Amino acid sequence: MAETLIISSTATKAEKYQELIPQIKALTSIESDLTANLANIASALKYGLGFFWVGFYRVDKGIETNNSTDFDNQILILAPFQGTLACTRIKYGKGVCGKSWKDKTTILVEDVELFEGHIACSSDSKSEIVIPIFDKNGNVALILDVDSDKVNDFDETDREYLEELGKIIEGLL
Ligand code: SME
Repeated sequence: MAETLIISSTATKAEKYQELIPQIKALTSIESDLTANLANIASALKYGLGFFWVGFYRVDKGIETNNSTDFDNQILILAPFQGTLACTRIKYGKGVCGKSWKDKTTILVEDVELFEGHIACSSDSKSEIVIPIFDKNGNVALILDVDSDKVNDFDETDREYLEELGKIIEGLL
């Protein structure tokens, strides 16, 4: 079944999120496969809001231990995304994504040049926002990374709606 997003071209950013999020909810409610849903969410965000790069990293637990706080074997691995080629593996605490995983919090980077340790997958990426997505035990399961080719392109509106979307994705895990 072909799916089409309906987003008003004249809408503000907040209105675009308000239009997009119910459509993402509807789209993902009819599919049970997580990879398929993440792929469509990445596409919906990239094309619905016009971001440069949108994608997910998943926490790979490596060799299973009984200790979910043992991060020695864990790593972020690239998951469904839309945009240019990206780094495939990010260590715990490294870059914006690894720090968001470690600190369990959203990180909004107004200018990637000013973020110490930023990992530049593309030199065109100038600002980014990264949202952690949690499993039922409160451990980070996924990282949502949204990049812009403009400096200072993200604000509290993005944080609010992307965190709301993160909660919806938690319901899909
Ligand atoms: N900039 C990210 C790496 C991922 S790419 O931007 C797609 C970081 O510093 O973690």
